[in-house]
Amino acid sequence: MSFLKLENLSKQYGDFHAVTNIDLSVEQGEFVSLLGPSGCGKTTTLQMIAGFVEASAGRILLNGRDITHEKPNRRGLGIVFQSYALFPHMTVSDNVRFGLEMRHVDAKESAQRVEQALALVHLEKFAHRYPRELSGGQRQRVALARALVIEPPILLLDEPMSNLDAKLREEMQIELRDIQRKVGTTTIMVTHDQAEALSMSDRVVVMEAGRAVQIGKPLDTYENPVNRFVSQFVGKANLLEADIVWQRPGKVGLRIGQHELEVDTDTTIDTPQATICIRPEKIERCSTQDAMLTGEVASCFFLGNQWLYRIRTECGDILAIWQNDGQTACQQGQSVALRWPASATRLLNATLQEAHV
Ligand SMILES: Nc1ncnc2c1ncn2[C@@H]1O[C@H](COP(=O)(O)OP(=O)(O)OP(=O)(O)O)[C@@H](O)[C@H]1O
Ligand SMILES: [Mg+2]
Repeated sequence: MSFLKLENLSKQYGDFHAVTNIDLSVEQGEFVSLLGPSGCGKTTTLQMIAGFVEASAGRILLNGRDITHEKPNRRGLGIVFQSYALFPHMTVSDNVRFGLEMRHVDAKESAQRVEQALALVHLEKFAHRYPRELSGGQRQRVALARALVIEPPILLLDEPMSNLDAKLREEMQIELRDIQRKVGTTTIMVTHDQAEALSMSDRVVVMEAGRAVQIGKPLDTYENPVNRFVSQFVGKANLLEADIVWQRPGKVGLRIGQHELEVDTDTTIDTPQATICIRPEKIERCSTQDAMLTGEVASCFFLGNQWLYRIRTECGDILAIWQNDGQTACQQGQSVALRWPASATRLLNATLQEAHV
């Protein structure tokens, strides 16, 4: 039995559907991210789990218990809001202690648990400071300690790192995941940052316009996006129109430009053309006779460890990402011959909108 189960969870404001039929099962100890663009219903979903937003339809089960209509304080979940919501007039340790006082934990145990929680987030030395005397990353850790000190069955994080600069954000992602593994708390994190979701999560729920369009492990989601939206929101994607030359169960023959290739698929296509997705790092340079496409470098961007090229071809612009091996990159205007492995070619389902679990 899954630890947290969302069944057909929906939220309507008037006739606007903010969240529609979310089905999700989360195992104990799992780290799951809700990933999607602004306004797709991530916070609304999280707030329904927390109990601050009443569901319009569907159920929420925690360890088999229906909590759909329970008050937030009865659910006892740990929450870190985007703004951290620390009490400015209380010290770090008083902020962390707050949840224990609300639960009437006795003073001795409370002191011990606050100390442990602060040690977990490496803030022992900051116990007597006020939030205004801390950096963004330190405040974020206080918020985390405050959520974890009550030993919640589930930790809910809403864009917990959005206030941090890029470097600190990366460090906190690693630290947060380490802490989560150590304490083993089942965690649901909201983010609109695909790299954050892919690097931190056991599974990612990709949301679009209130729906879960794909639920899967990070690598599967990246390698096998179900539709155009997921392919472009999770990483960069080259989307090309291919002619369907033949089909047989499990396989399809495609023509792209002048080249034909055979691709594995479990989808049956009933149109003469289909959209295929190839990730930029799967595009390789090759000799002209091995080329699937040839083109001209239209622009190049240096990313430090990699180069990102935009290459103009007869099938449209192709993005290619190649490692920086310390050599000068291709020049703008240079002719290049390109290919990619058939195994890196994904057929997208044009019509798939429903959750794919
Ligand atoms: N109280 C409300 N009344 C009416 N509409 C609302 C209300 N709260 C949220 N919405 C709408 O529901 C949709 C989903 O909002 P939500 O806050 O869940 O988005 P989000 O995915 O968290 O976006 P962001 O990344 O910008 O935080 C939005 O279009 C929003 O305007
Ligand atoms: Mg939000």
